Amino acid sequence: MPPAAWAGPRPSQEGGSIQSSVLHTQAPPGDDSVPGEENIPIEEAPAAEEPAEPVEEEPYVRVIDPAAPMVALTFDDGPGKRTGELLDALEEHRAHATFFEVGRNVAQYPQPLVRMDELGCEIASHSNAHRDLSKMKKRTMLAELDAADQAFISAIGRAPTLVRPPYGAVNSTVKYASGRTMVTWTVDTEDWRSQDAQTVVDYVQSLPNLDGEIILMHSTYKSTAQAVAVLVPWLQEQGYQLVTVTELLAYYYGELPQPDHFYGYTYFANHGRTDAPIELPSMYLPEEEPEAPPATPPRSTRKKRGES
Ligand code: NI
Repeated sequence: MPPAAWAGPRPSQEGGSIQSSVLHTQAPPGDDSVPGEENIPIEEAPAAEEPAEPVEEEPYVRVIDPAAPMVALTFDDGPGKRTGELLDALEEHRAHATFFEVGRNVAQYPQPLVRMDELGCEIASHSNAHRDLSKMKKRTMLAELDAADQAFISAIGRAPTLVRPPYGAVNSTVKYASGRTMVTWTVDTEDWRSQDAQTVVDYVQSLPNLDGEIILMHSTYKSTAQAVAVLVPWLQEQGYQLVTVTELLAYYYGELPQPDHFYGYTYFANHGRTDAPIELPSMYLPEEEPEAPPATPPRSTRKKRGES
């Protein structure tokens, strides 16, 4: 889908900082005008009195420091009711995460994936129907993964690179013969068990070192969204860069995701920070300028994630 949200940024005339307006004025889908008498149409704004030039905004280009601490937040089982709240927290802090989404949910709610893409989050597969892949014949497993891919292609025009097997359940076929890159996690918050934000926050904050870790959470719990709103700024205050799983593999472990590879506890336990980080210079493509831009800066000049 085209980045339709770009057509809808509202004019910021309140004198607040550009930065905060950039971060907080995303119009809801389809809502490009606010009802109300005080809402002056853009066309009638006097051109001579206000400077018509768009305010030059500092371009926002992500820079990942391969030598600095980094951690990958991951959210499974969406898109769902809490996906928007998770994205709000990530966007507010310019943080990035990976969403392992269920294909049949994507087919039902494709819109959040467009926003994930715009924010530079990584979209990954969590199968089509969240069934245990390790109990399937290979042919069935492949059909299940293909069905998920079709849902992603319909939503965002491409299939994900990474797959997280439901329940983390794998056998050698799932690990090494799916044609995909399988990734599990290294830190399990068990957010589904407690469904308590403070428990999740306390657990993550109790861990001595999160550098290079992949943290498992779920898109489905209000408690998780509440925990993430606390943990994202906290992690950044601790000096962690919040990166996607592919970014973590490249910059921290020095690997690019390969098909028929499995990244699980054993891999991560046996690998540390690489001496040869892989930069991903081509992962961001220039964002298309909106046509006939209004006299307001684009919401952001963030570059967009490409296929990898
Ligand atoms: Ni799951």
